[in-house]
Amino acid sequence: MEKVKIAVLGLGNVGKGVWEIFENNMTEIKNRSGYEIEIGKILVRDTSKNRGLHIPNNILTSDIEEIFADDDIKIIVELMGGINPAKDYIMRAIESKKHVVTANKELVATNGKEIISKARQNGVLFLYEASVAGGIPVIRGIEESLTANKIKEVVGIINGTTNYILTKMAHENLDFATALKEAQEKGYAEADPTADVDAFDAMYKLAILTYLSFKTNVSIDNIYREGITNITSYDIQNAKEFGYTIKLLAIAKEMDGKLELRVHPTMIPSTHPLSNVNDSFNAVFIKGNAVGDLMLYGRGAGSLPTGSAVVADIISILRTNMTVTGSSNVILDMPILPAENSISQYYIRMNVHDQSGVLAQIATIFGANDVSLSSIIQKGKNDNLVSLVFITHKALDGDIKKSIKLLEQLSTVDSIKNVIRVENFDE
Ligand code: NAP
Ligand code: HSE
Repeated sequence: MEKVKIAVLGLGNVGKGVWEIFENNMTEIKNRSGYEIEIGKILVRDTSKNRGLHIPNNILTSDIEEIFADDDIKIIVELMGGINPAKDYIMRAIESKKHVVTANKELVATNGKEIISKARQNGVLFLYEASVAGGIPVIRGIEESLTANKIKEVVGIINGTTNYILTKMAHENLDFATALKEAQEKGYAEADPTADVDAFDAMYKLAILTYLSFKTNVSIDNIYREGITNITSYDIQNAKEFGYTIKLLAIAKEMDGKLELRVHPTMIPSTHPLSNVNDSFNAVFIKGNAVGDLMLYGRGAGSLPTGSAVVADIISILRTNMTVTGSSNVILDMPILPAENSISQYYIRMNVHDQSGVLAQIATIFGANDVSLSSIIQKGKNDNLVSLVFITHKALDGDIKKSIKLLEQLSTVDSIKNVIRVENFDE
């Protein structure tokens, strides 16, 4: 059997998973790839760190030049994260005609166009299955299995950390900080967890899904983004009373030739399959014009699930015998709909002074701005303030924003506590 040498850049949560999969599944990997694979070098920052793995000392290095100096290394697997030096190393690898595998969604979302073009020019493969939804084969699923479809809509729970936090807050009444700490301990969170909780991670993944599903390179500035830090247990409880669950959704929808791209906490019916996607599980719900509705579900983060996607990419490269044949790559670059033109139902919670006429004032402002109300509930009283919760009918995002601005100016409204989109998945 032919031998091949690879190098791995990074031995953190994902890198360790990759090492473990090679240790445990070496026979299967050999049989399926047709190669005997040797991990020749692993790049880390600190070679003296105890990693709890049996890795021979001569494999670890903190010097990238040792890797580039070894012509026998044919595949570079980037698992460091961040833009630089990851991008620099990947571009150098491609220029040296080495194939590249990465799990780095930030890099693929922001620099993918340039890297993919460089890989095509140099006749090497650049694969990134692990960058979206961890162990779920969503990239290959869209690129290969669904390639006969016009995709109309992709809606995903694609961040394991925030899904873990929201699940723990809803089911176990854990506070936000404790749930985040648990997600970090389990290896789901990014090095900087604001990437997760402020929804940057899900936004990067949505950019990649948009490229694959709609053949559109999207600048991340064109994706509406809102994280989960404002979500309270009280909102989760209110959602339950209305028959909804709160999830961080990433949505890409085609509307009359334009794309609507948004990532935000969303109230979805507790009967919808996405509402039962819990803990670090991810799911991607796809509407294709031939296949209909389809949902891919699995572990979206963590050492072994992500490692599974990384090793699958390595095997895919080896199955081509490392010779790349050109394939069509038509880019459509569809226009993006501005966020204020998107239409949705909304949950709006506010504290108001408990006096007569308040409700009429609020209803007048909504009505004057084309926002029609679907339900209202009044909650408990505290210091002469009562909590009012509204669910609107579908309204323009811009009209909701105008209404909120005007409501904030009313002396009878103490504060707007939360505004959350509601998605009922109707046409
Ligand atoms: P991590 O635990 O922070 O590990 C990063 C590794 O890269 C560490 O071993 C670190 O070395 C090494 N490294 C970082 N910068 C380096 C540099 N400049 N030079 C040399 N080595 C460097 O990260 P992770 O969670 O494994 O994530 C890795 C990548 O996978 C990221 O792009 C992430 O977004 C992506 N990803 C993660 C998950 C997940 O569940 N964690 C899932 C999907 C995708 P030291 O160990 O010496 O510090
Ligand atoms: N931090 C990411 C998450 C890792 O929580 O989903 C997987 O991409």
